[in-house]
Amino acid sequence: MEHPGFTLWFTGLSGAGKSTVSGLVAARLRARGCKVEVLDGDVVRTHLSKGLGFSREDRDINIRRIGWVCEVLSRNGVAAIAAAISPYRAVRDEVRARIPNFVEIYMEAPLAVLAERDVKGLYRQALAGELKNFTGVDDPYEPPLQPEVTCYSDGRETPEQSAAKILAHLEARGWLPPAP
Ligand code: ADX
Repeated sequence: MEHPGFTLWFTGLSGAGKSTVSGLVAARLRARGCKVEVLDGDVVRTHLSKGLGFSREDRDINIRRIGWVCEVLSRNGVAAIAAAISPYRAVRDEVRARIPNFVEIYMEAPLAVLAERDVKGLYRQALAGELKNFTGVDDPYEPPLQPEVTCYSDGRETPEQSAAKILAHLEARGWLPPAP
């Protein structure tokens, strides 16, 4: 089924639900007949961005690489989904400017909630000073000023509700093939 390509760009702190919600959205889009590719920061860093660290410079390189892949995919009718912290507004806006159908999705959750959940155990290490330059602890995170969609992963919304909200946004823009 034909549909225009687009990029869904998830941004937010580690553990805010970017991977979870992007996976749900990907499954729903596939069920609607879309071609979908997910570029998850944790995964991209094992190949395309292997060797990059977490300095501002390295993070920006990571984001430009992911952005370039999303640009190429979107141009070819794919629903490209990026899920990376992408803490710096300037490089997110740079990527936005290059990609025609760009949707920024802010996964919002307070640091206290994420540190309490601590799925990967990284907040504990960062707060103990064992892991330096951890986003939200001792490294910056610049929230989007005008994201197309904001999802609340602090318990106010379930991941399914967040995914449904994103699908509704795409539906409203007329970018989805008709529901089966
Ligand atoms: S980004 O800043 O370049 O967008 P990306 O999303 O690819 O980051 O990778 C973030 C993941 O790397 C986190 O979910 C976490 O598992 C891991 N990580 C390791 N060190 C750090 C750190 N210093 N800051 C943030 N995440 C880190």
